[in-house]
Amino acid sequence: MSEQANRGLEGVVVGETRTSLVDGAAGKLSYGGYRIEDLAAHASFEEVVFLLWHNRLPGAAELEALRHDIAGNASLPADLLKQVRAFPAEADPMAVLESAVAALSFHDVDAADNSLEASRRKAVRLTGQITTLCAAWIRTRQGEDPIAPHSDLSLAQNFLYMVRGVEPDETASAALNVYLVLLAEHGMNASTFTARVVTATESDIHSAVVAAIGALKGPAHGGANTAAMNMFMEIGDPCRVADWFSDEVLDKRRRIMGIGHRVYKALDPRASVLKQHARALAASTGNSKWFDIAEKLELAARAEDFFIQRRLFPNVDYYSAILLYTIDLDVDMFTPLFVMSRIAGWSAHIFEQKRNNRLIRPKVNYIGPLDLEWEPVAERPVRSTG
Ligand code: COA
Repeated sequence: MSEQANRGLEGVVVGETRTSLVDGAAGKLSYGGYRIEDLAAHASFEEVVFLLWHNRLPGAAELEALRHDIAGNASLPADLLKQVRAFPAEADPMAVLESAVAALSFHDVDAADNSLEASRRKAVRLTGQITTLCAAWIRTRQGEDPIAPHSDLSLAQNFLYMVRGVEPDETASAALNVYLVLLAEHGMNASTFTARVVTATESDIHSAVVAAIGALKGPAHGGANTAAMNMFMEIGDPCRVADWFSDEVLDKRRRIMGIGHRVYKALDPRASVLKQHARALAASTGNSKWFDIAEKLELAARAEDFFIQRRLFPNVDYYSAILLYTIDLDVDMFTPLFVMSRIAGWSAHIFEQKRNNRLIRPKVNYIGPLDLEWEPVAERPVRSTG
């Protein structure tokens, strides 16, 4: 007897968490009780990592210890760098991350230990190593040597230093820090759920993170930031927004990337903060073209009945695309930068899952035929493949 299926598991509650509260109706988000707006204004990414992993803010010494631990463990094994150099330059950077994170597990000193304590140590290393991998890939694919991480820098500063090889510019590091803080955690999103499913089988944190990267890659999830920037580039000029919206969205029913959300039926609070930062950053460079395109398109959508009725607003990916582009990062690296941040939330959920684990195993309604007669292969009629 079939039961009513819930497509997309919408509204299904699968557990409890202390990491974050996503209030989709009110458009509010907090990590461990702290409003996202306050964290974006005041916290370093490392402070947020501590908050998510320990459910409280760190003291000064604890914060410095974690920053130092992440930066001090961010180097990549020489063998792995050699492997990464052999990847084709045109490889999808998310596939590079999937492969390289899997390979990092061979080199981890705690590889054989799947305890909670060992997973916490691995999470510290993965947080730094993923940042180093992202920077190394940007340089390697251009034929440049990767730069080793600097143990005195914050994660945001270290990334820019490892990409550019010069002391990081304060405006860019601050903007990147805000981005990392805002994307660190978001309840039971698809990639976090994936990480929990893998962890629940008693598999290891590297496997859970590789699977989560795979889930984040899709344009319905983390891939939307790259897709949004490609869309802004396709529009190309603020004066083309109205025609593009009319032709592509209203006529062809194309989706606007970076708009809409499964949970938020009000404005995503991260989008508001990112919009302010993207606007200020664009103004500081003297080139507001991309911001203007994004804002004009947002306003066109928000004035249209279709979007009003379905309560479709910009999500986190919409203005983060403008912010990352303005600090001169490659468009196809936007989703790997999402990974650089979300490793914090994934790890927090992996720890929670390990502390209170039960195999995650839902059901599905079978809708195919039953009781068919077995036919030997030689006697089967030729059928077209549907
Ligand atoms: N542009 C235009 N229409 C959109 C839309 C968008 N970005 N997002 C959703 N819609 C429409 C759908 O066509 C659908 O319309 P219908 O009622 O006429 O069928 C309705 O809104 C509901 O969409 P649905 O796909 O069922 O919602 P969902 O909760 O399953 O999907 C997203 C949520 C995020 C996958 C979806 O909004 C989307 O594809 N957004 C663009 C990609 C994106 O930004 N992803 C990052 C999310 S953080």
